[in-house]
Amino acid sequence: MSQNRPAAVVVLAAGEGTRMKSRTPKVLHAIGGRTLIGHAIAAGASLEPNRLAVVVRHERDRVAAHVAEIAPTALIADQDEIKGTGRAVQCALSVLDAAAAAERARSGGAGVGAVAGPVVVLAGDVPLLDGATLAGLLDAHVGDGNAVTILTTRVADPTGYGRIVRDPASGEVAAIVEHKDATEEQRAIDEINSSVYVFDAAVLRGGLSRIGSANAQGEVYLTDVVAVARADGGAVRAVVAADPMLVEGVNDRSQLATLGAEMNRRIVTAWMVDGVTVVDPATTWIDVDVRLARDVTILPNTQLHGRTVVAEGATIGPDTTLTDVTVGEDATVTRAAGTSSEIGAGATVGPFALLRPGSVLGAKGKIGTFVETKNAQIGAGSKVPHLSYVGDATIGEHTNIGAASVFVNYDGVRKQRSTIGSHARTGADNMFVAPVTVGDGAYTGAGTVVRRDVPPGALAVNVAPQRVVDGWVLRHRAGTASAEAAEAALAGDPLGPQARSERARAVETPDDPAPATGPAGTERG
Ligand code: UD1
Ligand code: CA
Repeated sequence: MSQNRPAAVVVLAAGEGTRMKSRTPKVLHAIGGRTLIGHAIAAGASLEPNRLAVVVRHERDRVAAHVAEIAPTALIADQDEIKGTGRAVQCALSVLDAAAAAERARSGGAGVGAVAGPVVVLAGDVPLLDGATLAGLLDAHVGDGNAVTILTTRVADPTGYGRIVRDPASGEVAAIVEHKDATEEQRAIDEINSSVYVFDAAVLRGGLSRIGSANAQGEVYLTDVVAVARADGGAVRAVVAADPMLVEGVNDRSQLATLGAEMNRRIVTAWMVDGVTVVDPATTWIDVDVRLARDVTILPNTQLHGRTVVAEGATIGPDTTLTDVTVGEDATVTRAAGTSSEIGAGATVGPFALLRPGSVLGAKGKIGTFVETKNAQIGAGSKVPHLSYVGDATIGEHTNIGAASVFVNYDGVRKQRSTIGSHARTGADNMFVAPVTVGDGAYTGAGTVVRRDVPPGALAVNVAPQRVVDGWVLRHRAGTASAEAAEAALAGDPLGPQARSERARAVETPDDPAPATGPAGTERG
């Protein structure tokens, strides 16, 4: 990191971003789980500036609200109707100077009362620019005693960019000429302005007050400060970024995707360098704020978003999407999706599980196949292995929830919570009608609708006795494949084939269920 701290960082974000063709302002589009302006602010903030200002205009309220959320101490500078990057920086300077003056007044006259020293300026749409590159630029600026230091790069196709015009004799930077204002000769220059600079505050303030908008676009160009600084005898130097991607801007959705993939490639590579196994980097997407320990294994088609944290030895994927999920040591998460949840050490999740917000699975617990959880605490060693919904529930430790169980948490008006104790064994196909409590060590039978509390150690069953209506199919579904199969089976019955088959067909019981309601399953009640 840099030995030097800038007086201020200015992030330019007032432009419209027309080519995105979006109702969302360009700088609020995201890659790597962070908005474009979030990346710019993070890079700038890593220099620990005295103050950071963001210049806004297009969709100013939305951009300002987002900045307030991610960087509460950032100052918002509103650009007026005068166009251009130079005007944008001028607006930032007046807000920064006002803040410095206010601080001076508060501290009883100590301090300068205006920004002095290095001011870093960067565009809000250059997401791959990192703190280390900015630190190098700042150190060169301070070390060389420059008036202006420009981050430049060489590109294959410089169309549209400002060109770096150097003095033929000394090789020093003489001016930046915008593409639209450039001569044919200047357009052949492949060294371009990245729109990332360090200015001495006084040079910047003075330069901006002396430039106009007599150019092809009728805008106040920040780039014109370079020629003014040179004319005043200040040193203007360039730092050439070897990697053009670092300074590439986003102008349309195609560039957004290209830079998003490039950022992801860099993030995934960095994790592999740190000891994470990534089986298929091309289908693995990891956001900037995700944290992974050593010996984590990530299988193909996995996306780790937000503030997801994965501990040592855990295996995630394939086909898994986790957002703000904490995964414990040696846990396994297979073909699952999870949001704002915790998975304990040694626990297993999936395949085909959905962990909605507030799901907390204890150590060595299990959320199995086709299981959905929400706002549910499932204690250490407890298992919900198959086909179940666990919503608004607390389950103790070492409890087993039978297959196809539902925590009936919604009565149509309110959501209510249920509690199952530790070492409980609930049968398959149970409904826990909230609010209800099942005590420690209690059992429930298959198909139980648990409406009343079950004390510790008790068995709850409420299924009606099974009725068997002999011959129902032969009478009411005569001629079907089912009836024929039944008849054949009855004919082969060693206990009296003929008799049983004939009786089955003939006997009408007084309560023979009507065909419309019979097999549909309403008999159980
Ligand atoms: C600018 C540079 C150009 C450089 C290029 C790199 C100028 C005059 N030109 O050109 O030399 O090669 O960036 O991408 O600076 N912005 C404002 N207010 C404005 C205009 C722009 O805040 O009035 C912001 C934009 O939101 C954006 C940044 O400044 O973040 C750059 O603006 P853009 O319009 O993209 O400038 P370019 O024409 O690309
Ligand atoms: Ca641009």
